[in-house]
Amino acid sequence: MSDTDILDRLAAHRLVPVVVLDDAAHADPLAKALVAGGLPVAEVTFRTAAAPDAIRAMSARGDILVGAGTVLTPAQVDQAVAAGASYVVSPGTSRAVVERCQEHGILALPGAVTASEVMAALELGLTTVKFFPAGTSGGAAAVAALAAPFVGVGFVPTGGIGPGNLAEYLALASVRAVGGSWMVPRDLVNAGDLDGIRTLTAAAVALATG
Ligand code: 3PG
Repeated sequence: MSDTDILDRLAAHRLVPVVVLDDAAHADPLAKALVAGGLPVAEVTFRTAAAPDAIRAMSARGDILVGAGTVLTPAQVDQAVAAGASYVVSPGTSRAVVERCQEHGILALPGAVTASEVMAALELGLTTVKFFPAGTSGGAAAVAALAAPFVGVGFVPTGGIGPGNLAEYLALASVRAVGGSWMVPRDLVNAGDLDGIRTLTAAAVALATG
């Protein structure tokens, strides 16, 4: 898939579940629950050692777009690519991480919440950034202000977003999609509560498309 195809798919779904998996064995059932809830997308974060195996299990299904999240180093980019991730998300903009993504030909979605950070991403040839942490970086008003000078730049706000404020972000033309963990709470994932995850996911999809 080209970078444009991936960005188009994220924009079509409007939501990116941000997942923390303590056990890679939960990956396949979780993917199934997300697909059943109408949201075949997951950002699997490198906050746990289970991330590479979880990405591998989800990617092998073929019915869900799997990104690697919280990628902090070029070595993690290598691991994400080897596991089959379709794109790489970082909390901030690291030249080393973005360049390793470009060597692999995989889309990088780095974090940027200031004009300087957006300019750094543009200089690396990127046109879409993760606005993270959204809630404490000024929220939707800050995204709107930042989008004004950066015509054509896309934002994926993430962090502190939930059903109560999702609409504020999705209303902005510069917002391609919104990320969040509210539909995949870690305790439900660990408890294997797939019905709960499917229900939360379906509700999030209804809000995002409604
Ligand atoms: C992320 O890594 O993108 C965030 O931790 C997700 O933020 P949230 O848990 O506030 O949705």
